Amino acid sequence: MLLTEIDHVAIAVHDLDAAIEFYESALGATVEHRERVDRDGVDEAMLKVAESYIQLLTGTRDDSPITKYLEKRGEGLHHVGYRVDDCAEALASMVKAGARPIDTEPRPGSRGSTIAFIHPKGALGTLIELVQE
Ligand code: CO
Repeated sequence: MLLTEIDHVAIAVHDLDAAIEFYESALGATVEHRERVDRDGVDEAMLKVAESYIQLLTGTRDDSPITKYLEKRGEGLHHVGYRVDDCAEALASMVKAGARPIDTEPRPGSRGSTIAFIHPKGALGTLIELVQE
């Protein structure tokens, strides 16, 4: 078993501040980490749920993949982040099983993590992020 935890469930939103306010007032959730990742054109907030997170994310520019996603699909579930001990090993295992990598090599993610994305096509219609802390 390469998975150690659900790291986060990511939800794409138009207005990050409004989304945080909704989770805070409706569920009493609190933001543990907020980060703007310019390389990916993403502004994100991580709200802790036990050992996992809800990740609210929005695009920071017109050509950001999140902005394009929001234009095409609207707000909603964007991807699931699975926590693994070794991102490279999990990526290789998924590729061997027939999954299609978006990242062919692990790369830096937010919070100092190492990540790799797997394309929804070939992964049961779900965008998967492998997260090594
Ligand atoms: Co993510």
